[in-house]
Amino acid sequence: MEAEDWKGIAANYEGNILSVYDNDEDSKIESVIKELEVKKETAVDLGCGTGKFLPLLSKHFKKVQGCDYSEEMIEMAKKSHQHLENLNLDVCDLRASAPKIKPSDVALCINVILSPSISDREKIWLNVRKSVQTGGHLVLVAPSLESALYSKYRLVEWNIRNGDASSRALSGGFETKDEEGKIISRGGIIDCGGVPTKHYLEEELVCLAHRFGFKIKSAEKITYPWSTEFSNPPKWMKSPFPWDWLFLLEKQSVRNR
Ligand SMILES: C[S@@+](CC[C@H](N)C(=O)[O-])C[C@H]1O[C@@H](n2cnc3c(N)ncnc32)[C@H](O)[C@@H]1O
Repeated sequence: MEAEDWKGIAANYEGNILSVYDNDEDSKIESVIKELEVKKETAVDLGCGTGKFLPLLSKHFKKVQGCDYSEEMIEMAKKSHQHLENLNLDVCDLRASAPKIKPSDVALCINVILSPSISDREKIWLNVRKSVQTGGHLVLVAPSLESALYSKYRLVEWNIRNGDASSRALSGGFETKDEEGKIISRGGIIDCGGVPTKHYLEEELVCLAHRFGFKIKSAEKITYPWSTEFSNPPKWMKSPFPWDWLFLLEKQSVRNR
């Protein structure tokens, strides 16, 4: 996706985007941020969108930066959070060779590295690394490939419970355009409302974190209600719930090439 593509999405953000902030029912990100507050001065929200996490960061850190490559998102964030005196917001593309971001003690990167282009993702990872001080922390949230596949299974189960023949139940659950599973096996790219979106295996994030010079402090699931996957999910559809991966990473002095 390009910055332009987020234009319409910014205008109807609530309807279009799964808000991690609103659906993090156990407030796991807030707990992580509170723990990191101790002796930390600066924080940056990379790909801040409309800025849902900015008030939280502003409360816990002395100086906060927020950046996004969509001018519309930054405009909306400015309008909603103009009262936050310790906040600076800028338009910047995390794929650029030298985006204007000061390295911070803590960086948030919440569902931002979603591009289907591996070369774009590599550029973003490099800048994410540069945005954190050595010894500082990165709070990373990324869509789970395991959860996406599991959700498709729950849709198949739903079809079967409704009395569909199993082959129809299967084709109703899984994308028929990707019958051979090429897109998924090539790189975890799954169509989300018409947008090809990178999803990650837990082990893939472990390897990425290691390659970009981060130590893993914790890796857990943020679970969401089924209404984030399906409209009007049936009452019997309960746990295990769908999830994103939440990694807390500490920047090491060197990268592992
Ligand atoms: C799913 S939204 C998440 C927004 C916010 N982090 C949150 O959790 O509410 C993804 C955001 O990443 C931004 N984004 C994607 N690629 C980017 C890039 N290359 N540089 C800067 N921002 C980017 C988009 O504009 C969008 O606002």
